[in-house]
Amino acid sequence: MAKPAKVMLNVPAIKADFPILQRTIRDKRLVYLDSAATSQKPKQVIDATSDFYSRYNANVHRAIYELGEESTREYEGAREKIAAFIQAKSPTEIAFTKSTTESLNLVAYGYGLKGKIQKGDEIVGTVMEHHSNHVPWHFVKDHKGAVLKYVDVKDDGTLRMEQYDDLLTDRTKIVTVSLCSNVLGTINPVKEIAKRAHEVGAICVVDAAQAAPHMPIDVQDLDADFLAFSGHKMLGPTGIGVLYGKQELFEATEPLLGGGEMIREVHLGSAKWNDVPYKFEGGTPNIAGAIGLGVAVDYLTKIGMEAVRGHEMEITEYALEKLARLKGVQTYGPKDVKKRAGVVSFTIDGAHPHDIASILDVEGICVRSGHHCAQPLMERFNLPATARASFYIYNDMDDADALVAGIKKVQEVFA
Ligand code: ALA
Repeated sequence: MAKPAKVMLNVPAIKADFPILQRTIRDKRLVYLDSAATSQKPKQVIDATSDFYSRYNANVHRAIYELGEESTREYEGAREKIAAFIQAKSPTEIAFTKSTTESLNLVAYGYGLKGKIQKGDEIVGTVMEHHSNHVPWHFVKDHKGAVLKYVDVKDDGTLRMEQYDDLLTDRTKIVTVSLCSNVLGTINPVKEIAKRAHEVGAICVVDAAQAAPHMPIDVQDLDADFLAFSGHKMLGPTGIGVLYGKQELFEATEPLLGGGEMIREVHLGSAKWNDVPYKFEGGTPNIAGAIGLGVAVDYLTKIGMEAVRGHEMEITEYALEKLARLKGVQTYGPKDVKKRAGVVSFTIDGAHPHDIASILDVEGICVRSGHHCAQPLMERFNLPATARASFYIYNDMDDADALVAGIKKVQEVFA
């Protein structure tokens, strides 16, 4: 996406919707810079979940009575909103899970392990994936004898795209990639990768956990076969995730969980599955979570995802410029904000990332530190850990300035 003309959201008005952002940390203004780990929630989402429990709590798809019809209507309404949010052809291409992790495990198990993968078939991932897009494929390797291959990352944090030339073969069955890295912020050329996958007859599985909250997604334009994301990183509740799958691939995927709701009929010793997407939603689902996520999608849609992306580009560019001026501070990932999202991993000479996060915490600033569930990527960059600031719609330049001032304090401590 080209960098749009400077668009900044009305952050004071947005902040007013987030009760937690009114609080202080040790008498300091809360500067929340860890939205890549989980976002804060607007009162509209909090109220929607509370409203479900207060006014129409009942199980979905089971009850004949009015309350059950209301809860089913709202739950299915949320599915429709999510389908529209990512341009899916139909709400039946949207399954609710508990997380991105569960969504990716569902694909690895139901399409890979129980379905299409035979010994020697190849799965091509990348070095920059989150553990949740590594480990499920390890299961397929361990249980089916699949061969795992990985595209490497360049020093600038972008993928070595030319490696797909050699790695993709007629044995490739699955190509998997994150749309946006949770460490480097890199936005990967998924449309091109999906095209390459399809040329060798493979499917493309996309981890969109760090992308769905921050930029417009059109699954039809990307031609993604499966795409996974979480509610809690995009203003929604925890414990609700999404798996998008093309209808015919959903049909070809086995369920991960057996139990109530996911069946058409059960006999002693045998069962037939319900239609998609219900066959993937065994057990009582996270009804409040789905409804809350639907309201989060309303909130983001009202702002507009182009505007969200534009706003974050401005803050990221500003923060990267300021950080580049600090001696002894390194940032990782593409320098060009058109190629990256608002996730800024950094290290400071002589200071461990956990110490950086602790000192920033004293200033009321929340950042994540550690390997960010991406150990293969940390090994690639020869780093034990980084600190990571991540921006969202409720952050502004003052927050970026607070980060820079906090980093200077860290440097004073370790001088
Ligand atoms: N995957 C989340 C992160 O990167 C938790 O912080």
